[in-house]
Amino acid sequence: MATDPLQKTSPEQSAADAAAPAHLVEFDQVVKRYGDHVVLDHLDFTVDRGQHVTLIGPSGSGKTTILRLLMTLEKVSGGVITVDGRPLTHLPGPDGARKPATERHQREIRKKIGMVFQQFNLFPNMNVLQNITEAPVNVLGLERAEAEERARDLLDLVGLREKADAHPTRLSGGQQQRVAIARALAMRPEILLLDEVTSALDPELVAGVLDVLRDIARTTDITLLCVTHEMNFARDISDRVMMFDSGRVIESGSPEKLFGDPEHERTREFLGAVL
Ligand SMILES: Nc1ncnc2c1ncn2[C@@H]1O[C@H](COP(=O)(O)OP(=O)(O)OP(=O)(O)O)[C@@H](O)[C@H]1O
Ligand SMILES: [Mg+2]
Repeated sequence: MATDPLQKTSPEQSAADAAAPAHLVEFDQVVKRYGDHVVLDHLDFTVDRGQHVTLIGPSGSGKTTILRLLMTLEKVSGGVITVDGRPLTHLPGPDGARKPATERHQREIRKKIGMVFQQFNLFPNMNVLQNITEAPVNVLGLERAEAEERARDLLDLVGLREKADAHPTRLSGGQQQRVAIARALAMRPEILLLDEVTSALDPELVAGVLDVLRDIARTTDITLLCVTHEMNFARDISDRVMMFDSGRVIESGSPEKLFGDPEHERTREFLGAVL
């Protein structure tokens, strides 16, 4: 019998979670500069465990940078990012001072986080199954047979079981992106970061990928932080939508409120342009 690769948490796990910090992710006065260019300007926001949060905002405003900082692909210029109660970028030093986090510390925290990129980024020298089993075997230390069984279950979830042995270049963009989603899920992330995962796809392939993501949002308790220009999708899956511009979250609320009755002129203007 196929195992459920993304089982909802057990009652024991829920009890353990009750003692865990409420915010799974916290940005506290986070600054990111490239030279003189301030991209994130003392940015504050939180994402709670199990929440589905969508970030919207103009091109070039820094949405990808937020996700890349969380993945430790970039370093903060100031402030603190906390994941599950532990600072990602700093460790407590002597006398309450902070010292930069070690690579090992960052790797530990990063295990909780998965990311799917706009451009899929599948490993070109591996077939589909190898793409999905590589990290579980080499990073999590799973037995190959177990990793492969789970990979096949995940391929079922994204509707691609028959493509296990295919090479990524033989797949459509939509299929490649669904493999990338399966690959991210194979690491059993607590939080999944989605960066405009459908914007490189031909229009007819978008719906299939969004359906897979809707399924994940509905049937798992993975926390989602999602950057998207697909406003209907954002409305469907989000518990909260954050309008981001000029380095800060300028407005945040339920999809009904943010799309239906935004407070800020800048949000109205942006939505007017994209809806
Ligand atoms: N490595 C880098 N060096 C210098 N500037 C960078 C670098 N990466 C990003 N930037 C700048 O930071 C700003 C934010 O970029 P980012 O990719 O986060 O924007 P975005 O909101 O994701 O945009 P889009 O909607 O187009 O994807 C941009 O002005 C970009 O030019
Ligand atoms: Mg981006």
